[in-house]
Amino acid sequence: MNSQPKPRPETVIRPMDESDWPQWVEIDQEAFVEDYSPARVERFKALMEFDRMLGAYDGDRLVGSTVGLSLTMTLPGGPRPVCGVSAVCVIPSHRRRGILSRLMRTQLESLHEGGEPVALLYASEGAIYGRFGYGRAVDNLFFRIPTRGARLADHAPSDPSLRLRVVRPAAARGDLEKVFESVLPSRPGLYRRSPAMWDAILADDEKSRRGRSSLRCVVAEDDAGPRGYVLFRAKAGVTDHDLPDGELRVSDLFGLDPAAYALLWRHVLERDLVARVFAPSRPVDDPLMHLLTEPRLLNAGWLDDMWARVVDVDRALPYRAYSAPVDVVIDVTDTFCPWNAGRWRLSADASGATCHRTNDPADIELPVSVLGAAYLGGRALGSYEAAGIIRETRPGAIRALSAAMSWETRPWGGLIF
Ligand SMILES: CC(C)(COP(=O)(O)OP(=O)(O)OC[C@H]1O[C@@H](n2cnc3c(N)ncnc32)[C@H](O)[C@@H]1OP(=O)(O)O)[C@@H](O)C(=O)NCCC(=O)NCCS
Repeated sequence: MNSQPKPRPETVIRPMDESDWPQWVEIDQEAFVEDYSPARVERFKALMEFDRMLGAYDGDRLVGSTVGLSLTMTLPGGPRPVCGVSAVCVIPSHRRRGILSRLMRTQLESLHEGGEPVALLYASEGAIYGRFGYGRAVDNLFFRIPTRGARLADHAPSDPSLRLRVVRPAAARGDLEKVFESVLPSRPGLYRRSPAMWDAILADDEKSRRGRSSLRCVVAEDDAGPRGYVLFRAKAGVTDHDLPDGELRVSDLFGLDPAAYALLWRHVLERDLVARVFAPSRPVDDPLMHLLTEPRLLNAGWLDDMWARVVDVDRALPYRAYSAPVDVVIDVTDTFCPWNAGRWRLSADASGATCHRTNDPADIELPVSVLGAAYLGGRALGSYEAAGIIRETRPGAIRALSAAMSWETRPWGGLIF
């Protein structure tokens, strides 16, 4: 009798069936070591695109997943469709057997066969996605501002026609959507918020509060309508000596113009009984740093925001605009998506960009992750050269490509998908 253990059948990667949603909820809670409220599960479900969801199956059992969300994101040059990768999890019993790698490969192959040319994601940990060709494309800053002493400078713009309206967030939803939609094209990385996303942003059940107050909203407006808004929660508190020690956590703050923007910041910094304003994610070029009399009070810290993956070099590079004319041959290394490997000529000017295979000698050698990192315009390529990650064979080529790919307004997504 053969006493050898049976070999374990290989996990299969295939489109996930919507009827497996309850299983997905279980494995995602396990993977993230969290318990979701029924309301949160419903919000997740509304955000999913089941026809773009992949499952990893061990027999009938779902053990891992990913989804590609159809997002419209501002790129250098304007809003375009991109793939937003989300719902990435593998049940702990099956981790480190290559399941995520196979999910990532299948997802990128399907994008290569006819999806968006660029994929973006928010990483739970910074060490995961580089191996799949994603580059750290966006940074954000968090501010922890002690309100004592934090004052806007005399040069901060003001407009007497502006006024503030304290309002329940749900009641102001139309105004919030209008402001955000107007701001959207102004910054690479911002992406259109679907009704389901607004539901999630404005969700105010006990669990969303995480020990803080209900969600609060203040709209800046004039007679013509809204010009900005801030969303925040507060944690009340006092010191041992009964001095105000509250903290206000700003989740969203957008202004359509400098005066509205300054007024909203002035408002949160001057709220009574608030000792600190915490803003967990702000753009690295946030105008606030030019408005405070003492910018050190920002107490800024740095984190990665979005990661980007060029799916197809020849489709992705002409998909965005460039800040300066450029004509370079790049030699791309891409072991995960080998169709990108080799030499490409990128030519761009104000009228547009082209990218074709070439046999001409390379000006720059670089891994595909660096193209992803620079894709939204927020990376100076010279620092990758200094780190020994990219190399030029024609003097000045890296500087030229870096100038062309950079963008005046720094990228920022501002909301995890
Ligand atoms: C992160 C996660 C999806 C990885 O899935 P997995 O199936 O274990 O990943 P793989 O086995 O395909 O790993 C591929 C490689 O990435 C590495 N890797 C995977 N997760 C990693 C992590 N969190 N940190 C560092 N390296 C990691 C593996 O060690 C492996 O490296 P190797 O090729 O050198 O051996 C899974 O552990 C998980 O669900 N974690 C909790 C939820 C989470 O963080 N999801 C991601 C949301 S963005």
